[in-house]
Amino acid sequence: MVTLIITLLSLLFVFCGFYFAKTSKEMPKNWYELKTELRYQYIGLVGLAHDFIYRSRDRVALYKQPGRVAVITGGNRGIGLRTVEKLLACDITVIMGVRDPVSAKAAVTSVVDLSTSDGKLICETLDICDFKSVNEFAEKIKARYNKVDLLINNAGIMFAPFKLTADGNESHIATNYLGHFLLTHLLMPELKAAGKEGKNSRVVNISSCVNLIGRINYNDINGIKHYYPGTAYSQSKLAQILATRHQQTILDAQSAHVQVNAVHPGIVDTDLFEHSATTYVPFVKKLLFKTPEQGSRTVVFAAIDPRVEGKGGTYLSNGGLGQMHPDAKNPAKCEKLFKYTCELLKIEDFGSGKI
Ligand SMILES: NC(=O)c1ccc[n+]([C@@H]2O[C@H](COP(=O)([O-])OP(=O)(O)OC[C@H]3O[C@@H](n4cnc5c(N)ncnc54)[C@H](OP(=O)(O)O)[C@@H]3O)[C@@H](O)[C@H]2O)c1
Repeated sequence: MVTLIITLLSLLFVFCGFYFAKTSKEMPKNWYELKTELRYQYIGLVGLAHDFIYRSRDRVALYKQPGRVAVITGGNRGIGLRTVEKLLACDITVIMGVRDPVSAKAAVTSVVDLSTSDGKLICETLDICDFKSVNEFAEKIKARYNKVDLLINNAGIMFAPFKLTADGNESHIATNYLGHFLLTHLLMPELKAAGKEGKNSRVVNISSCVNLIGRINYNDINGIKHYYPGTAYSQSKLAQILATRHQQTILDAQSAHVQVNAVHPGIVDTDLFEHSATTYVPFVKKLLFKTPEQGSRTVVFAAIDPRVEGKGGTYLSNGGLGQMHPDAKNPAKCEKLFKYTCELLKIEDFGSGKI
């Protein structure tokens, strides 16, 4: 036990050293930022330990579901690509919302022989952090499909330098949270149309274990007064879980056959870490992190596993329940963020699909 603790602490300091020395992420400039970094290292190590301890539980059984339709944001690489692969293996038609549909299709066909699936692959343009693009993407889906069985809110960025989107929102909150909230609202009529008693349609929000160190800063949600990338990322990932919880409350009140779950996919070796010091220690990632295929398992588990049926509003990790931020267990705090978001996005009636 002592050896394990010493090893973990050593790893922590090695990682910190790399952060301070080499990362393209902004350096901690004060005690608050340094504390944030240390908390990230701690949460990351706990996440790695969790992935290791529960590795035998991290499984998903694929089964054929022809005729079902899934929408996924991103999916051209990383966890999303392996999620698309699994959905197609289930004969589910997959609509990908991606920035470059041509290269996205090429990425999928490099890992999937489409002739082996009864599901179709459709790639449409989507820039999830741009509300106009989200609206256009949703319109295209609505024009072609009157029901959507699965919505997988996967696209994400981490530790990016400060940037405001065309709509004036900070890029983490816009990409990881606001764009997906809007898409969920716009596609809700189609999700409701697909769900039925005993077979809910499902929304899966890919959050992260770093929700545990997140805080919604209502006074400066865009980090205008003070921006730190780690804070922006954990805020956006906590926001996804708070919204998941309140959206489920609303859907339950409407007796809608739709469930919304949040997921931590594990600590996964993907390009998400491009602004992280782990870029300089690829062997550590290869050794300790999950592969994208393993990272896609809990995502697909949340999307199709019969054991999750009727268990909306939960946060899943390694094929079971994960540990949520205390705010996520406080309905008033979940509702506060939900209302704030609806106001920001000019949504008057969540789930109506109308702005
Ligand atoms: N990797 C991990 O350890 C980990 C842990 C916890 C949670 N997660 C979450 O898992 C999800 C997938 O991450 P990943 O690890 O697979 O990362 P990744 O390999 O970097 O993939 C990110 C995906 O998001 C897409 N994306 C980013 N910005 C977009 C935008 N504005 N519009 C449309 N698509 C956009 C990317 O598309 P482009 O190719 O166009 O950039 C790509 O498909 C993210 O939500 C992430 O926060 C990952």
